[in-house]
Amino acid sequence: PKPTEVTPAVIMKSYACQRRTPLKHHNSFLTEALEILAENAEFSENEGRSVAFRRSASVLKALPYVVRAMNELKDLPCLGEHSLRVIKEILEDGTSSEVESTRQSEQFQAMKALTGVFGVGARTADRWFREGLRSPEDLIRTGQKLNHAQQAGVQYYTDLNTPVTEKEAMVISDIVEKAVKAVLPGAIITLTGGFRRGKEVGHDVDFLITHPEEGAEERLMPKIVNWLEDQGLLLYQKTTRNSYLESKDGPARPPSNMDRFERCFSIFKLEQAQVNSDTRLEASSCNFGTTDGTQECHSGSSWRAVRVDLVVSPYSQFAFATLGWTGSKLFERELRRWAGQEKGMSLSSHALYDSKQQRYLHAISEEDIFAHLGLEYIPPSERNA
Ligand code: GTP
Ligand code: MN
Ligand code: MN
Repeated sequence: PKPTEVTPAVIMKSYACQRRTPLKHHNSFLTEALEILAENAEFSENEGRSVAFRRSASVLKALPYVVRAMNELKDLPCLGEHSLRVIKEILEDGTSSEVESTRQSEQFQAMKALTGVFGVGARTADRWFREGLRSPEDLIRTGQKLNHAQQAGVQYYTDLNTPVTEKEAMVISDIVEKAVKAVLPGAIITLTGGFRRGKEVGHDVDFLITHPEEGAEERLMPKIVNWLEDQGLLLYQKTTRNSYLESKDGPARPPSNMDRFERCFSIFKLEQAQVNSDTRLEASSCNFGTTDGTQECHSGSSWRAVRVDLVVSPYSQFAFATLGWTGSKLFERELRRWAGQEKGMSLSSHALYDSKQQRYLHAISEEDIFAHLGLEYIPPSERNA
């Protein structure tokens, strides 16, 4: 018989922001199950429960080996009783009955379909579910009252639930770059969100925009949006003004993780030809050919809808904004928890406040912020907590 493999000893820190979490890891068969339970808890607005499952999953993502037995988990932090029970079941039976029954439940599937509509949160979806609605088709059929975001969400439902590829993200980067440079020369545009962490697909594309001259970025968003609208590139947009200066509750303590930057939630109209133009010789992903030889994708249309988030930050807050908009969501949450619980500091996407010294800590790079927080620097590609 083969000698039993010895599990390498790992030191697992308890905050996700103290660990390196790569995108590709060894325990998807466990983390995907735990994340179904986390998602289900979010649908019932049970945040504590959801975070507990997400923390457990995140610990397994940081492990350098495949978990095969329960004793390999004994020194790991964040694994609660419930998560351990689920993991044990999967290790023994291959699946967890709780996870499978959740996945298959009418409620979970309806909540997933309804919250999959842009502009619809758990609360609205739950109300609709209790009224007997199950899908976006049901919303149309029963003539539900929808706000502008939700109307766009229903209209572009299929496109917006089709993952955005890296190539599409690059084409959109070029468009955003062109728009921003046209209205404010010298502006700096950074791709943030999942694509900055190295993800190959995303649910949207996120950008952060600034200008080295403080103040030059003020009221920039309407100009960018106008430029994009003039070019016919926007299907939907909602711009929110910067409310940071007017806010009364202190800059480093925004309610939840919402920040007050000038920002725009949008839906771009992306021409497929632009995505395919530099790869005509490669096998095309489009299956629809037309008689005149033009390529058509997505049920016969030459374009598709893509969610894009644009955020404008003053240069002095750029490092905080970059860190705050790179994610992952759990990584961000853990950074703020670390700052508060371990350092007596308050971190937001605008600033870092040291309560003991009673002053804001200056930073011009993400590295500065990690250093202020007493954390080892973790690069974006290892923030996939
Ligand atoms: P996908 O888009 O699903 O591929 O993943 P993602 O990590 O890019 O998620 P998302 O686009 O939802 O968010 C990107 C980052 O922006 C995450 O770190 C979020 O925490 C952050 N974020 C999203 N909305 C807000 C917000 O209102 N305020 C702040 N400060 N951060 C936000
Ligand atoms: Mn994103
Ligand atoms: Mn986003």
